[in-house]
Amino acid sequence: MKQTTETPPNVLISGGTGLVGKHLTKLLQERGYTVCYLSRQKTAQSGVLSYYWNPERGELDEKAIRKADYVVHLAGANVGEKRWTEARKQEILESRTLSTELLADALESVPHQVKAFIGASAIGIYGDTLDNAASEDSPHGNDFLANVCKEWEKQVSLIIDAGIRTVVFRIGVVLARESGALPKMSLPVRWGVGAPIASGKQWISWIHIYDLCRMFLFGIENPSLQGIFNAVANATTNRQFITQIARELKKPLWIPSIPLFFLKWALGEMHCLVTTSCKVSNQKIKSAGFSFEFEDLERALRDLL
Ligand SMILES: NC(=O)c1ccc[n+]([C@@H]2O[C@H](COP(=O)([O-])OP(=O)(O)OC[C@H]3O[C@@H](n4cnc5c(N)ncnc54)[C@H](OP(=O)(O)O)[C@@H]3O)[C@@H](O)[C@H]2O)c1
Repeated sequence: MKQTTETPPNVLISGGTGLVGKHLTKLLQERGYTVCYLSRQKTAQSGVLSYYWNPERGELDEKAIRKADYVVHLAGANVGEKRWTEARKQEILESRTLSTELLADALESVPHQVKAFIGASAIGIYGDTLDNAASEDSPHGNDFLANVCKEWEKQVSLIIDAGIRTVVFRIGVVLARESGALPKMSLPVRWGVGAPIASGKQWISWIHIYDLCRMFLFGIENPSLQGIFNAVANATTNRQFITQIARELKKPLWIPSIPLFFLKWALGEMHCLVTTSCKVSNQKIKSAGFSFEFEDLERALRDLL
């Protein structure tokens, strides 16, 4: 961080209480930033000043916007947490669109000094890529998650229209120790019942949580960075991924694979989270000057498992 003022820059994070937000908070605080949250929870988070908002009701504490130097928008109902009923799908969509619209309105109407808006989206926007690595210009998919991402990014254009430097990261599968995809994938392997999913040939484009947080920091600290960037370190097939977890945990893989029909029955429409092939290129963010600490799966898993 360049020390240009006496007061440290203030980063306002929506959804800062989540997996990415907590890690990003730690990194920003270590680098000397002040962090505040926009949260639906009224209780204070340890060590972080929290401002209340409720995107569903269109409520937002304007003080959060007045104080912010940067806005990082992570809020959204977790796509892997609950079965996708129609009501849950509506919540997944609206928690992203209404929250982005609310932020855009606030950035339009409240006096502020925000220098950049860094938003999350997801590589789910590409739908099933089969074996072709999707770049930021690749066509979008037409399934539920792709449509959510398209609507989400459409709302972000309101912030670009407000003249604020805007960066959107299309995030891949985030690998972290405590929650998200990795514990879910590694637990059956630890119990000795791990197996590839369906054909095992579907691609998983992943990123280590530390690199993702460094990428958000890169977005904050590079005044020339704007636009959409894929946030993935590498792509590995599901079979290679599970095999690498087993190797790391020194566990055997004896079940051939989990059949697709079972996943459809157990997870419903949500099965696409584990069966869709998503191979994504990170060339654009690398060309912008970002370098990864964990580009190799073995190294990433050794750090996290
Ligand atoms: N983790 C991944 O693998 C991954 C992959 C691709 C994209 N992303 C995207 O990156 C962002 C951050 O991911 P994450 O893993 O940190 O998510 P997370 O752990 O699920 O946390 C998201 C935060 O969003 C807020 N939130 C939850 N439901 C909401 C709702 N209905 N309305 C408004 N806010 C709501 C919550 O904060 P409060 O309770 O404080 O309001 C929550 O802590 C998300 O938008 C996610 O879609 C994540």
